Amino acid sequence: MSTTPELFEAVIELPDSAASARYESLVGLDEIKERLNKEAQLLLHPTSLDQWSQRFHQTHIPACDAFADRHPVFLFAGDVGTGKTALAESFGDHVARSIGVPIYLYRLSLASRGSGAVGEMTQLLAAAFDEVRRVAAAPPGRDDEYTSAVILLIDEADALAQSREASQMHHEDRAGVNALIRGINSLTEQRLPAVVVLATNRLGAIDPAVRRRAAATFRFERPNDIQREAALTNLLRGVELRTRELGALVKATGPLDGRPYGYTYSDLFQRLVPAAVLAAYPDRRLDGGILLDVATSLEATPPFTAED
Ligand SMILES: Nc1ncnc2c1ncn2[C@@H]1O[C@H](COP(=O)(O)OP(=O)(O)OP(=O)(O)O)[C@@H](O)[C@H]1O
Ligand SMILES: [Mg+2]
Repeated sequence: MSTTPELFEAVIELPDSAASARYESLVGLDEIKERLNKEAQLLLHPTSLDQWSQRFHQTHIPACDAFADRHPVFLFAGDVGTGKTALAESFGDHVARSIGVPIYLYRLSLASRGSGAVGEMTQLLAAAFDEVRRVAAAPPGRDDEYTSAVILLIDEADALAQSREASQMHHEDRAGVNALIRGINSLTEQRLPAVVVLATNRLGAIDPAVRRRAAATFRFERPNDIQREAALTNLLRGVELRTRELGALVKATGPLDGRPYGYTYSDLFQRLVPAAVLAAYPDRRLDGGILLDVATSLEATPPFTAED
């Protein structure tokens, strides 16, 4: 099966310097990154746990068997604009460098979700998993000598993996969920170095059978005061800001009376700072006053309120 443009967005081979820069630019996710890297190494480089056991215990300790037969699925769940997509598209860079094997990042494109014709979604997913298995497989005659690994990203996965129990669910969607589960099971059975990342801001809408299969669920939240302060300090390097002004900015971008939620990371990075730069450009320097004015006039993106 060849990779058709309709099936995937452009495939990215990792390591890749742009992905590395993107990964490093994500702040407030250190705990998630650390756990994600370990979990991903175990799934994408199946011998690494045994090597660890041999090194520190001089044998294969049974504790390692707890990791056998896990489904290679990660769930990235949480609020809008908190870095789910950005991390899903870039963490493979770090993992590829650690395991010394190239990782191919496949992103199922929105268009590939089919127009709803019966059978279309099922066929598209089956084709996607065929391609993932083909790329992840060891070269013929060299069992277990994997020379590449695969990350399959299904973004906004709630559109695809909706609960089969939802009464309004269309027959075709149910077939899509079943095809997804079949694809995941095939990776598990063959123990291929591939992992499926499902990203969503509606964890509750993901089918229970899919959720149950997740080897790990990572929860993304919008930044608290300390994280906003760190993000703003980093973003505003070179801008003279008094401590008092930074404090006011952290406050203005946090939860307020009448607004129980603060700014998301993307509100800070993609809205507040660009708007402030444009307000100063071309005749003024960027300062705390401009930033505060912009912060008080912008609305923070409301959280996704649908069921979770
Ligand atoms: N933790 C973060 N650190 C730095 N920048 C961030 C972070 N999270 C998000 N951003 C910025 O916001 C942009 C949008 O984030 P991203 O698309 O990853 O959000 P998301 O969690 O996938 O949101 P959605 O649920 O709406 O899909 C990123 O490309 C990045 O520029
Ligand atoms: Mg996203």
